[in-house]
Amino acid sequence: MNEVSLMMILDQLDEGVHVVDLEGNTIYYNRAMGRIEGLDPKDVLGQSLLRNFPSLSKETSTLWYVLQTRNPLVQVSQTYLNPRGEKITSVNNTYPLYVQGEFVGAFEVTRDLSRVARLTEQVVQLQSELHPPLRNQAKKKSSFYSFDDIVTQSESMLVLLAKAKRAANTGISVLITGETGTGKEMVAQSIHTYSSRADGPFIAQNCAALPESLLEGILFGTVRGSFTGAVDRPGLFEQAQGGTLLLDEIDSMGLNLQAKLLRVLQEGRIRRLGDLREKEIDVRILATTNKPTEESIRQGLIRTDLYYRINVLETALPPLRERKEDIELLIQHFLRQMADKHQRSVPTLNFDVLLTLKNHDWPGNVRELAHVIEAGVVMAEQEFGVNELPNYLQAKAPTLKRRKGKEKKSTLTLQECLRELEERMIRVALEKTEGNLTKASEQLGISRQLLQYKLRSIDYKKIQGGIK
Ligand SMILES: Nc1ncnc2c1ncn2[C@@H]1O[C@H](COP(=O)(O)OP(=O)(O)OP(=O)(O)O)[C@@H](O)[C@H]1O
Ligand SMILES: [Mg+2]
Repeated sequence: MNEVSLMMILDQLDEGVHVVDLEGNTIYYNRAMGRIEGLDPKDVLGQSLLRNFPSLSKETSTLWYVLQTRNPLVQVSQTYLNPRGEKITSVNNTYPLYVQGEFVGAFEVTRDLSRVARLTEQVVQLQSELHPPLRNQAKKKSSFYSFDDIVTQSESMLVLLAKAKRAANTGISVLITGETGTGKEMVAQSIHTYSSRADGPFIAQNCAALPESLLEGILFGTVRGSFTGAVDRPGLFEQAQGGTLLLDEIDSMGLNLQAKLLRVLQEGRIRRLGDLREKEIDVRILATTNKPTEESIRQGLIRTDLYYRINVLETALPPLRERKEDIELLIQHFLRQMADKHQRSVPTLNFDVLLTLKNHDWPGNVRELAHVIEAGVVMAEQEFGVNELPNYLQAKAPTLKRRKGKEKKSTLTLQECLRELEERMIRVALEKTEGNLTKASEQLGISRQLLQYKLRSIDYKKIQGGIK
């Protein structure tokens, strides 16, 4: 098939097709694209993309994004203005274009937003009719996370998870470090469910939440009379028998208690507070810290002997801002997860939102992203746009800032509009009557005095020279 007949076929499609070269110049633009964007393909061909769409920039255009990153964008919506200033909203699939293995440009397939939204509804509906047991299956699954639940494509994460998997069945202790919300508990639970202890208990205790004396009683248990009011109660070591005990924020545990914990790890035995007898325990210990361990050690927050005992395998989860390649994947994951949770259809993601989320630093890491997407899914109709972002992120949306700036200049209040209209009518009447106030007031249907009064409040310069 030659190039001309291929182009004729592409012209018959309902979908818009737009192809640009490496410089962002249009090399193909079909008729449907012209209909969607309100342009004549002849005017677009050979032109620079950004010249035709002045509201877009290299940072905000989906085609430029793909030219720069070579990453495809799938089902991303975009709102922009055509050269006549008309607002276009479309849903695009944008891909890098390779010819014989060489990267030569990018192409975009664009669909009418309303039609895609209708189709999405239908697909969601059909899926729920075809697979009604899906939700029940999810409920039956263990309530703990497994490695399969951890969404990532980051090289450093994948290497780390592979190591954690290998360690899972050995029973060794693992120290998991990472900023808040990076998934430490998820990894801890996954180690548990991947190990031979999966059927045993998994218990997590935050060491920062309690004073040392209380924490000791909780971990080791007490016997009646060991102190006033004490009762016979097993501690968490005993309760986690045959399973896993996760000690969160271990660097907040007092140094004395850390010494006792070290003894438990070395001897495999515990003694309840006030008891003389010792009990054998079979518990795997996992621990977490929010700070890098070198820092905790330098500050004297972790005993080095305990550190070497529990840090058989150190697992340092990178913050989300250092694995930006995960952001898009996690967004898609949470869009589906939250839509399912709230029984809504998955909204289309606006490109400005995607850019804002990719540029954010995520101090709260994956947890913060999950909350942002959940709120967006709950509030969005069909499209998750900038308005559905929390205020602190809306302020960072680059296109919005620009649009707001423009709106300020072009949007007038009703009163301003009426005044402008009045001024214009007065000017026309004065021009027609060559500045004769009596005739002009007759034409305008108002008294001469009123016209004089109005002229006083109008900027005289505008009509200067026209009044007699
Ligand atoms: N890679 C991931 N894939 C999917 N969900 C994730 C991922 N990482 C984290 N999450 C989700 O983010 C939330 C926070 O994760 P988690 O509780 O494991 O973090 P954490 O590091 O223990 O945080 P904190 O230090 O505040 O206790 C959870 O809801 C978890 O399901
Ligand atoms: Mg945690």
